[in-house]
Amino acid sequence: MLPLAAGFISERSDWIIDGVLVASLALIPMLVVAFRHARGARYLNHRNLMLATTALLAVAVTAVEMDLRSKGMFAMTVGSRFYGTAFLKWSAWIHIGLSTVFGVWWCALVAASWFKFPRPPRPTPFGRYHRWGGRIALVGMGLVGITGFELYIVAFVL
Ligand code: HEM
Repeated sequence: MLPLAAGFISERSDWIIDGVLVASLALIPMLVVAFRHARGARYLNHRNLMLATTALLAVAVTAVEMDLRSKGMFAMTVGSRFYGTAFLKWSAWIHIGLSTVFGVWWCALVAASWFKFPRPPRPTPFGRYHRWGGRIALVGMGLVGITGFELYIVAFVL
């Protein structure tokens, strides 16, 4: 069992969930800057920042997984007015489904980019696929963030 003190944003969550919420907000400017690096042809900066965001995401996902597994995912939501409702369950499963699909997409894109681009990175014919894959990954992460935020409100605030 992890040491699960109350959260600093909502008393009904815990410090791990709240820490991940803050880290997710920090991801937004990181991704904007990384995208602008790519647009401005600063590919090494782009790559390094994308690897840093990937590392941050990996830490966040691992922490949430350990937290939810040790406490029980739905047991944590017992204080919510939506506890036990289909609405809360669907909110959770939609967020988990999107996280899984786009998490796999994200990791595949990083791995393919690492091996397909030269080092230091510069555009190659693979760049065409990468640009589309990258845009899909960014939109997907946006959806994961929006559904995660909605789930937090439904589970720990309302
Ligand atoms: C999931 C992580 C990543 C995402 C979401 C992402 C996203 C993007 C996007 C959206 C673009 C196009 C920007 C534009 O419209 O001009 C781009 C370009 C590029 N990225 Fe990434 N990127 C990621 C990781 C990486 C990594 C790890 C590398 C290097 C190993 C890399 C190297 C490049 C290069 C060289 C380009 C220019 C491609 C070209 O114009 O042909 N990216 N990236």
